[in-house]
Amino acid sequence: MKYIDIVNGPKQVSTMVQGCMRMPSLSKEDAAKVIRSAYDCGINFFDHATVYGAGEAETRFAEAFPLTGLKREDIYIQSKCGIYPERAEFDWTKESILASVDGILERLHTDYLDTLLLHRPDLLFDPEEVADAFDTLEKAGKVRWFGVSNLVPMQFELLKKYVKQPLIINQVQLSLEQSQLIDQALYMNNKTTEYSINRDCNALDYCRLHDVTIQAWSPLQIGMFGGTFIDHPDYPELNEVLGKLAEREGVSKAAIAIAWILRHPAKMQAIIGSMNPEHIVDACDATKVNLSHHDWYELYLASGKFLP
Ligand SMILES: NC(=O)c1ccc[n+]([C@@H]2O[C@H](COP(=O)([O-])OP(=O)(O)OC[C@H]3O[C@@H](n4cnc5c(N)ncnc54)[C@H](OP(=O)(O)O)[C@@H]3O)[C@@H](O)[C@H]2O)c1
Repeated sequence: MKYIDIVNGPKQVSTMVQGCMRMPSLSKEDAAKVIRSAYDCGINFFDHATVYGAGEAETRFAEAFPLTGLKREDIYIQSKCGIYPERAEFDWTKESILASVDGILERLHTDYLDTLLLHRPDLLFDPEEVADAFDTLEKAGKVRWFGVSNLVPMQFELLKKYVKQPLIINQVQLSLEQSQLIDQALYMNNKTTEYSINRDCNALDYCRLHDVTIQAWSPLQIGMFGGTFIDHPDYPELNEVLGKLAEREGVSKAAIAIAWILRHPAKMQAIIGSMNPEHIVDACDATKVNLSHHDWYELYLASGKFLP
């Protein structure tokens, strides 16, 4: 495993994060195996959200954790709030943020979160109210560091105008199949391809300029929930290159696909979501792989892009 220091945030966090979105389907014994396998591979950072199984992911994690033999301080725990499917709205009001964190801490059986992210933007958010909520959480010792997810740069700036704590993370989607975060710069001003559409207002460059760590979610997914592109018949060229590099490096195709994210100089974390300990071990080989500049482009092009 490789580790990075997050600017203004936690030190020596693993570059791979174990996402817990899919944990509600597991028994507590199987969830414990997932946590322990990830930890034994060097992962010390676990990602949650209130919306994962409507709180069930956090509940299962807390039931499983005592079976792992780990201590709370052995790991970083992150959760996210702001999405309320039951109410069909996103909500960043102070009342909602504070109530969400109390719920998270209760479900996770912990006194504090290492990081709290606002999951998706509430179109009605008032940055002063968010700032007030963060102050309250920090003073109460309930949250150590703060960040966001799926947020465009100008809204990030708007929050920063009022929030006193550094916003250290932006969690966004990035994979070989969903590479919008990096595509536009390559095709700028090119009206013959939809890759030239700026879909996130330059979130990648903004984060790099402001030392915000990017956490790449769903590194192996087609679309949002389309299953993995690994060994998928619709991605023959990509799988051929993944297979070739996997053989060369003696690792799995998944490890190469994740290594492609970690090869980017922005020093991102990649959040994996497997609930299969064997897949987790295989994926963590990503940090042993050193992709060359050429390998990186070969994978990018095999995912369906072209050099303009
Ligand atoms: N901020 C956001 O808006 C947002 C959105 C979505 C997700 N997330 C975070 O990102 C995390 C990861 O998302 P994700 O679960 O979609 O990530 P992912 O790692 O891209 O996908 C995991 C899925 O791929 C399968 N898989 C993994 N390795 C495989 C392999 N070698 N062969 C075949 N199938 C394989 C897994 O099945 P097995 O379990 O069988 O391995 C699982 O169904 C989530 O847990 C969550 O923490 C954040």
